[in-house]
Amino acid sequence: MKSKILITGLLLSAAIIGGCSAGGSGAKDTMDHSKMDHSNMSEEEMQQMNGEMESSEMENGHMSHTNPLALNDSTGENELALPPLLKPQEGEENIYTITAQIGETEIFDGVQTKTLGYNGSFLGPVIQVNEGENVTFRTKNELDETTTFHWHGVDIPGTGDGGPHNYVEPGQSKDIKFTVNQEAATLWFHPHPEGATAEQVYQGLAGLIYVEDARSKTLDLPNEYGINDFPLIFQDKQFDDNKQLNYKLALNEDGTIGDTLLINGTINPRLTVGKEKVRLRLVNGSNARNYTYRLNTGDEFQQIATDGGLINKPNKLREITLTPGERAEIIIDFSKYDAASNIALLNESGAILLPFTIDEQKSSNSSNIPTNLNDYMVTDEERKLPVSKKLELFGMGNMVAINNKQFDMNRIDFTQKQGETEIWEIYNKSDMMGGMTHPFHIHGTQFKIVSIDGQEPPASEQGWKDTIAIDAGETFKLAVKFNNKGIYMFHCHILEHEENGMMGQVEVN
Ligand code: C2O
Ligand code: CU
Ligand code: CU
Repeated sequence: MKSKILITGLLLSAAIIGGCSAGGSGAKDTMDHSKMDHSNMSEEEMQQMNGEMESSEMENGHMSHTNPLALNDSTGENELALPPLLKPQEGEENIYTITAQIGETEIFDGVQTKTLGYNGSFLGPVIQVNEGENVTFRTKNELDETTTFHWHGVDIPGTGDGGPHNYVEPGQSKDIKFTVNQEAATLWFHPHPEGATAEQVYQGLAGLIYVEDARSKTLDLPNEYGINDFPLIFQDKQFDDNKQLNYKLALNEDGTIGDTLLINGTINPRLTVGKEKVRLRLVNGSNARNYTYRLNTGDEFQQIATDGGLINKPNKLREITLTPGERAEIIIDFSKYDAASNIALLNESGAILLPFTIDEQKSSNSSNIPTNLNDYMVTDEERKLPVSKKLELFGMGNMVAINNKQFDMNRIDFTQKQGETEIWEIYNKSDMMGGMTHPFHIHGTQFKIVSIDGQEPPASEQGWKDTIAIDAGETFKLAVKFNNKGIYMFHCHILEHEENGMMGQVEVN
């Protein structure tokens, strides 16, 4: 047995070294991870294996698995595309039609790339809804495969949530009716069919949902779509030699990443803005890549929202990190700059994500950002609640698990009562190599972070959340309440981890 473990360990370390050191060609790693079956290995064996791995050549700092493949700089040659706004059809009160379809998109000049999209060939619209509105989402599947329509961050009954149980077959249409029951926020939607979520998102299925409420409409925040209020959907891709998105070729079991950034589907994007305050709704729609956003000048910007709503006061920052699934809204004050300033949004390693062009002719609204945006708080009652659900995240590659279990559609992992707040404690257990950050997401709710390792969360996370970046070794306490009934997924939002079984189900009744 010992020798078997050693061999497995060496095999795995070879795979990891291969994956990490592959650099620019990481996406072409063709090692078949599925042949390495660790599924029935005990935790003790895993630790022993990790020990073997550490004693081989593992201490080279690669093990964080954070973005091993660098992103190319944006040249800024293309003005950023904006998703179309989707309002209800004329004469059809509050019916929004959303069709998943197959298409071709000219991402590179003169080349058609095969893509998927909602109501178009690539990505999707911004669905605009208001708190309190009764809406019908008329979903249609015009793909040649099964899909689901999942509304990430939406407070919605389980039957409409679009998890793996709510599949829509090719040619089928399904109406989802619900009342918008949450405050102003930038949410998103994407498919969630078992076994094909990661691939369908990678091929282009993702759209946005904007919720507005009575307060958000009166707050003097930049809100002119495409003028001073822009969505930015960040997705990295690996294009093959024919400029196609070959998911199988790009696939990495610990998260598929690519060297090419698309923002709203635009390659080499730039954004033209006026000398005014501009609101950017940052959406990490990538399969696995994290982004730490900062300005090339090192200047401050202000965060105004988390995943599920506005924060109480604008939060001054010089950088903010989003893991897959997370959103944040920020405001950059461009009135300080002029046409000659070279302003750009960079990531943590200095790659240029989005250069800005300042058009001094463009409107210049100099209004101040309101100082009171919301009344979010973690109550004393919530702080006093005992932990009633414990989750332990562990593993990597094919071995990722929650509480040592991998996803089973026929197993309900937890139950919870509708309308009752419970404290979920989520622990990301380190392995001998450190471990990975897992973006942990719960469907059908917006929750509050009560503490991180016993401490108050940073200001950037004091607001409604549906996805949180849990670093190796960290423990989060969350106050979680479901307003509706049904079966909801919770999972790691590295989509390959989700596919590999780092997902469970809570039934609310
Ligand atoms: Cu973006 Cu299961 O979710
Ligand atoms: Cu979700
Ligand atoms: Cu994960």
